[in-house]
Amino acid sequence: MKGIAVSIRDLSKSFGEKKVLNGVSLEIPAGQSTVVIGPSGCGKSTILRMIVGLLNPDSGSIACDGKEVTRMSPRELGEFRQRIGIVFQSSALFDSMTVGENVSFALSRHTRLSQREKNGIVEEKLRVVGLEGSSQLYPAELSGGMQKRVAFARAIARDPLLILYDEPTTGLDPIMSTVIEDLINAIGRESGATSVVVTHQLSTIFRTSQRIAMLSRGQVIGVGKPEEMKNTKDPLIRDFLDGRPS
Ligand SMILES: Nc1ncnc2c1ncn2[C@@H]1O[C@H](COP(=O)(O)OP(=O)(O)OP(=O)(O)O)[C@@H](O)[C@H]1O
Ligand SMILES: [Mg+2]
Repeated sequence: MKGIAVSIRDLSKSFGEKKVLNGVSLEIPAGQSTVVIGPSGCGKSTILRMIVGLLNPDSGSIACDGKEVTRMSPRELGEFRQRIGIVFQSSALFDSMTVGENVSFALSRHTRLSQREKNGIVEEKLRVVGLEGSSQLYPAELSGGMQKRVAFARAIARDPLLILYDEPTTGLDPIMSTVIEDLINAIGRESGATSVVVTHQLSTIFRTSQRIAMLSRGQVIGVGKPEEMKNTKDPLIRDFLDGRPS
């Protein structure tokens, strides 16, 4: 299976008076993991929302496998979204549904699989994230790290070709962060999907990236392989990757 390539050109977006994105361009290659970093409030989540068509840019273009997202009809957008998995910044599970119902949510809405087939997929995806046998539990009965893994299982339920992770390890302890980072890598490796990981966390940046892109003041100020970014001369990028306030 081949991941989706995303080509972002000259994206701009203001909220009221505030210009958040001011000409963002970024090539996200198919089948690789691109980590997007940048200070809080620089527009990382905003870019993810635009890639899935939940928010329109003021100008600029986003092409997924050559197809312009900003010009898709609602129907095309619906079909396109079925090939994308999203893990939101808050896990965003449905509290009133069991783990199993959460994971099979998209399957129930968009497919005509039998309950038995859905249960099979739920168990398979829960096994991938190390939560086999938990389908009858409710989110409130789970730790934050387990909830995050349920959100992963839900995101991969339909075998997406593009997976967007918004701050997947923020708020987790170092051991659970490592588990989640390993999971991101394993899912990418086994599915061939393209991953976009938005994160602040240094361990996550270096453990999950094949490429790193840094956003600052509304633009992408640097992009490259992890070792290239580590050795950059740009002080903003170096300070960020060294965890120094600049
Ligand atoms: N729907 C909205 N209406 C008004 N302002 C918004 C909206 N969405 C985002 N913003 C503003 O745009 C800026 C960028 O927000 P965004 O959530 O994309 O940042 P971020 O880089 O993901 O930050 P963080 O690292 O804290 O999650 C923020 O100043 C935010 O307040
Ligand atoms: Mg965010």
